[in-house]
Amino acid sequence: MALIRLDKLLSNLGYCTRSEARDLARQGRVLVDGQTVSSAALKVDPAAVTLDGETLDPEGLLLMLHKPPGYTCSHKDAGVLIYTLLPERYLRRNPVLSTIGRLDRDTTGLLLLTDDGALLHRLTSPRYKVEKVYEVWLERDLEDDAAKTLTRGGLMLPEEPHPLLPADLEVVEPRFVRLTLVEGRYHQVKRTFEALGNRVLRLHRPRFGALELGDLPPGSFRPLTEAERLALVSG
Ligand code: URA
Repeated sequence: MALIRLDKLLSNLGYCTRSEARDLARQGRVLVDGQTVSSAALKVDPAAVTLDGETLDPEGLLLMLHKPPGYTCSHKDAGVLIYTLLPERYLRRNPVLSTIGRLDRDTTGLLLLTDDGALLHRLTSPRYKVEKVYEVWLERDLEDDAAKTLTRGGLMLPEEPHPLLPADLEVVEPRFVRLTLVEGRYHQVKRTFEALGNRVLRLHRPRFGALELGDLPPGSFRPLTEAERLALVSG
């Protein structure tokens, strides 16, 4: 187990600054192995620490969020950011918490967040071909030719040098399809249907890799279990 200075731990996890950690320790609000500590400089096992009787957030964070419409996946854009759906201390974490890929402001569904840079790279790199499932509501009926173009691959999107890879397509209704992509290009679903002469009216992502959104309510989040993390990276 890796030991870390108590004040550094609490500030990395966004609970407080390092100097505030000294005050918390002095006030007896921080316990290590159930005992008050005299100094915030003490090196501790994070699992042994409680603050106000609660165990601490884990050092590596991996969350699933059900993104509602109207929220932006950015740290700084104008508008309402998805980070406002999380506890404030998550925004003060070091390393910072980021989304794994993005969903457009009006898109809903499964969004992952992590502070683990290697995991973020692993899940967004085109090399690993992680499947993303999208439910797509269309303005017009999907024509057979367009469906074939999607599943065969090869469509060129404007100003892109490489053709699209084949996608998996389930036509649930002529204007409602389920599309599985292994790429993550900018506005890929909307630009793809636009290139096919159609328009996306609504977009929802129920699955990312091995993970399903399930019955997580819109606007809610939950940490992933170790088994879910493993399933994500081994999928
Ligand atoms: N493709 C899009 O066009 N938008 C999204 O939000 C996700 C994929």
